[in-house]
Amino acid sequence: MKRRAVIRGIGSYLPSRIVTNAELAARVETTDEWIMQRTGIAQRHVAAEGETTSMLATRAAEAALAHAGIDASEIDLIVLATATPDYTFPATATQVQNNLGITHGVAFDIAAVCSGFVFALSTAEKFLLSGSHKRALVIGAETFSRILDWNDRTTCVLFGDGAGAVVLEAQDGKGTVADRGVLSTHLRSDGRHRAKLFVDGGPSTTGTAGHLRMEGREVFKHAVGMITDVITDAFAATGVDADTLDWFVPHQANRRIITASADKLNIAPEKVVITVSEHGNTSAASIPLALDVAVKDGRIKPGHLVMLEALGGGFTWGSALVRW
Ligand code: UT7
Repeated sequence: MKRRAVIRGIGSYLPSRIVTNAELAARVETTDEWIMQRTGIAQRHVAAEGETTSMLATRAAEAALAHAGIDASEIDLIVLATATPDYTFPATATQVQNNLGITHGVAFDIAAVCSGFVFALSTAEKFLLSGSHKRALVIGAETFSRILDWNDRTTCVLFGDGAGAVVLEAQDGKGTVADRGVLSTHLRSDGRHRAKLFVDGGPSTTGTAGHLRMEGREVFKHAVGMITDVITDAFAATGVDADTLDWFVPHQANRRIITASADKLNIAPEKVVITVSEHGNTSAASIPLALDVAVKDGRIKPGHLVMLEALGGGFTWGSALVRW
């Protein structure tokens, strides 16, 4: 017998305002054709004035709890991944905890940028497997619109706002890959790559929130190799391969990175969930947002084998293999 962290429910939330490529083309020197061709992004959602990361996260968490049929009072752990917290402190997770009316257990944030959801899932899994906690909310939530330089066409066209959440519950399994739940996680980081993707401000440097800066081509060059490495690690650890996978739900940064990674791993194109066209890159929220789309439209069903992966600033990167 082996304890497993099983996904009981999923939910997401997108701000109502949609910004199209045409709207951006009226603002900076770009075109719908360039953005579509280079990234696959057609539109992104942008939070309204006063709509914060904790508000998006709370809506996603409420949806996940409803989908799981679990009351907020049954949650004893909240792990929230974000690079755009409401405040420098306290942790955005504690605001979500308060919004949900939870006063027991523990809530904290994870900073791994676009890899945040995979890092948060892996962290929550370890808490559940240790026996210290029973039911977790794992949330990825971002308002990247607040840290974009809206005059920089090389970055402002790429990102969007949103939140996604899953309810994770400790259950007993057999210890085989037939178990439901998180079957493996592989996390990596390498701080030598800081300058390729970073925010040029912070409490202990400029005293401001700063703006996102990225050497896109450099990130692209590393992304496919790093992503495929941690997926190959997951395959080796579990005996699963590209053919036995049901779904590949990658971080949604760029359609070209997603398809190149799937090609390199021999994952069939029809198994790849792509939402970057509608959501843009929502950083830590992108994987749970994509998962929610594929669960709610009936593609991902209980028992399916799902591979998640992400790469983000740091660099940080990682994979998670989950049986739904
Ligand atoms: O989620 C975290 C991880 N982030 C990523 O994975 C992002 C990784 N990088 C990328 O997705 C791609 O590198 C980008 C989409 C950011 C850029 O695509 P690219 O094919 O690497 O283009 P590039 O940066 O090499 O730029 C090509 C040209 C440049 O002009 P020159 O130097 O060739 O004259 C850019 O100035 O495109 C120009 N350009 C634009 N043109 C129109 C850059 N941004 C734009 C734009 N509209 N928005």
